[in-house]
Amino acid sequence: MSDQSAFDTDVWTLTRFVIETGRQAKGATGELTQLINSMLTAIKTISCAVRKAGLVHLQGLAGSVNVTGDDVKKLDVLSNDMFINMVQASYSTCCMVSEENKDLIVTPKEKRGKYVVCFDPLDGSSNIDCLASIGTIFAIYKRISEPEGEPTDQDALQPGNQIVCAGYALYGSATLVAISTGSGLNFFMLDPAIGEFILTERNVKIKPKGKTYSLNEGYAKYFHPSITEYLKHKKFPEDGGSPYGARYVGSMVSDIHRTIAYGGIFMYPANEKSPKGKLRLLYECNPIAFLIEQAGGLATTGTQRILDVQPEALHQRVPFVVGSSDDVNEYLSFVKKHP
Ligand code: AHM
Ligand code: MG
Repeated sequence: MSDQSAFDTDVWTLTRFVIETGRQAKGATGELTQLINSMLTAIKTISCAVRKAGLVHLQGLAGSVNVTGDDVKKLDVLSNDMFINMVQASYSTCCMVSEENKDLIVTPKEKRGKYVVCFDPLDGSSNIDCLASIGTIFAIYKRISEPEGEPTDQDALQPGNQIVCAGYALYGSATLVAISTGSGLNFFMLDPAIGEFILTERNVKIKPKGKTYSLNEGYAKYFHPSITEYLKHKKFPEDGGSPYGARYVGSMVSDIHRTIAYGGIFMYPANEKSPKGKLRLLYECNPIAFLIEQAGGLATTGTQRILDVQPEALHQRVPFVVGSSDDVNEYLSFVKKHP
């Protein structure tokens, strides 16, 4: 890693990185750069709101339930509005899908551009009031419908293998953006003194094998035998090796960031109560799967590569198992034993 700091006279900010990547892309118009920059403004504001929430009465419920049945928090509403407004102001999208909106969000005609964004403005929001880390997740696609017509759901129902750029922001002990445009995964840390994201790790790779597993084991009663057997193997290894440690924040961005940083496996599998799991394909699983693959890891439903799933509905859920390649492959060997 190079010596990056705000006082580096040739510092790599995320804005610089995006401009540079855009210059290298054939036929680039600068629209993607505009879009990412607008999202970064939203992310910085959300980060600030998260840190001040307890002081400015932003904790607690907004008083409604969203399309997937979760209680909506005041910070969810603020983050969603902020994200939508900033993205539309970039003149680079035709439509968006948000966890907080039932229908496709169509950009006003005069502000339209060629991209589609699927996002979760504040993931892990049940952790807001206990001050645990939360995050924002996004995936960007190119529009597939004719530019003259109205955007449709089909523009957003593209498989993850069509992603142009994806990322997450982690509002943890520091604010970090993990982002990839398809040529590696990079980490940028927010320097609050200058309000810029500074490159801290380029071309991040996940270890092929970790030492931890991460899932909500409270649902063990409802697990499929492949999960039960796999977990038993992790706790009581037959080869006499050391058992895996267990870690679960309950905020996917935190659990994923740890998995990328230290290696291991994160799972939100299907169970008897949630036959398709809980996590949503378009704005939770696909962007994370894209980033994990960029880092050399794997992401699967248990039967299919996540990025190859053809979406059928905007808020579709899928079972999600992701992480170090050896760990995910080992889990898949248990699926084969218990199809
Ligand atoms: P949310 O989008 O309503 O915040 O739900 C998604 C979150 C993920 O961040 C996390 O992995 C999961 O829900 C935790 O769910 P559970 O409480 O069932 O373990
Ligand atoms: Mg979410």
